[in-house]
Amino acid sequence: MAARKNLPPFHWRRGVLHAEEIALPDLAERVGTPFYCYAAGALETAWHAMADALERALPAHPKLICYSLKANSNLALIRLFGREGAGADIVSGGELARALKAKIPPRRIVFSGVGKTVEEMDAALAAGIHMFNVESPAELERLRGRAKALARRAPIALRLNPDIDARTHEKITTGRAENKFGMDGRTLHELARRAHAAADLDLVGLDLHIGSQIMTRAPFDAAFGALVQHARALTSAGMPIARLDVGGGLGIAYDKPTRAPDWRGYAALLARHVKGLPCQLIFEPGRALVARAGLLVGRVLEQKRNGRKQFLIVDASMNELMRPTLYDADHHMEAVVRRRAPAQPRRWDIVGPICESGDFLARGRMLRAPAAGDLLAIFDVGAYGAALGSHYNSRPLAPEVLVQGDKFFLVRHRTALHKLWHNESVPPFLRARAAR
Ligand code: LLP
Repeated sequence: MAARKNLPPFHWRRGVLHAEEIALPDLAERVGTPFYCYAAGALETAWHAMADALERALPAHPKLICYSLKANSNLALIRLFGREGAGADIVSGGELARALKAKIPPRRIVFSGVGKTVEEMDAALAAGIHMFNVESPAELERLRGRAKALARRAPIALRLNPDIDARTHEKITTGRAENKFGMDGRTLHELARRAHAAADLDLVGLDLHIGSQIMTRAPFDAAFGALVQHARALTSAGMPIARLDVGGGLGIAYDKPTRAPDWRGYAALLARHVKGLPCQLIFEPGRALVARAGLLVGRVLEQKRNGRKQFLIVDASMNELMRPTLYDADHHMEAVVRRRAPAQPRRWDIVGPICESGDFLARGRMLRAPAAGDLLAIFDVGAYGAALGSHYNSRPLAPEVLVQGDKFFLVRHRTALHKLWHNESVPPFLRARAAR
């Protein structure tokens, strides 16, 4: 059954949180906790919100939306976007392999990232990707060498570092001069001349990405302005820029009362900048396509008091959601089953079982706390949730479930314990004698 129209992907029905048509406690029974749950309808809705807005505001420009795999690289999700016409924004050989495995045509793949290895360059050249986003003179030379060795021409875009503050968390801002990404305008022009003259390179475009979780218009405005200015200058100098890759970065409102920017405003802004500039527009969205479509569900193990602090200890941890620890992120959370007589809201630290005080999902959060044994849903974890997951403390990776209407699909199993060490070995000199 298709998702019911106008029904939010996650909603309460008779006091029980559902993903589309499926009650989350039923899923917890089937796959155990913690687990991630994605709603197919929400992924499709997010895709169309973006694609339709771009089409409306930029009808004359050919467009390629390259889903940024790093946000959530589950094959099922890549495949879902691929079916809608998405390409892939990749940053490693592993992501290249995933994109190809999920049947993204190589001609729709762009390879970003500040440190590409020779092996990764070779694999991408052999696959015949759409373009390499080149970030430095040294990378350009290495890529040129590999293209020559493999007798291929490498299509390249040069990544501009426009020295713009994206006004986001410092760990995910990438367009400042002090960040490792891209290059300044002068270097970019010099490289463009070099690339234009090189037999093994095709200078096809320019690109930038100034950061992630961007909540205001101004940084995009400044970045598009800078990119277009360089594109026009190069084009008039006889180096036509056929593609502009404007990166990703559109943020979402997590648990703070902020308004998120939307694709309509973004598209209208971009349209003003690229008016009269004939080029393909490439987009690299991650978060905005997947964040809202995913939940993390954990079970409360116990409530605990230490001094003045109240802790809610759950079986989900920073292994499943690093964002609070890494970026002070505030993810909304609520009990999966609403009780008739819920607890009074109190301030809680919601923490996992990992042996670090950095292992928290929220601190000082007002919550009607679920009791031991109850389920807790953590919202907006579709992006950079499972993708940042780890096996720390030898904990299995949590399963991922994709819900479509009244059906669900286990799109990743929980790691079996023996798989935790399946690529490790004990050398012979340690095998000889049993432990004393
Ligand atoms: N393109 C490039 C070159 C990127 O580096 C990124 C994200 C994207 C596109 C996608 O950006 P998005 O549309 O998702 O904002 N782990 C952090 C976010 C790291 C983003 C890294 N680069 C978090 O959980 O907030």
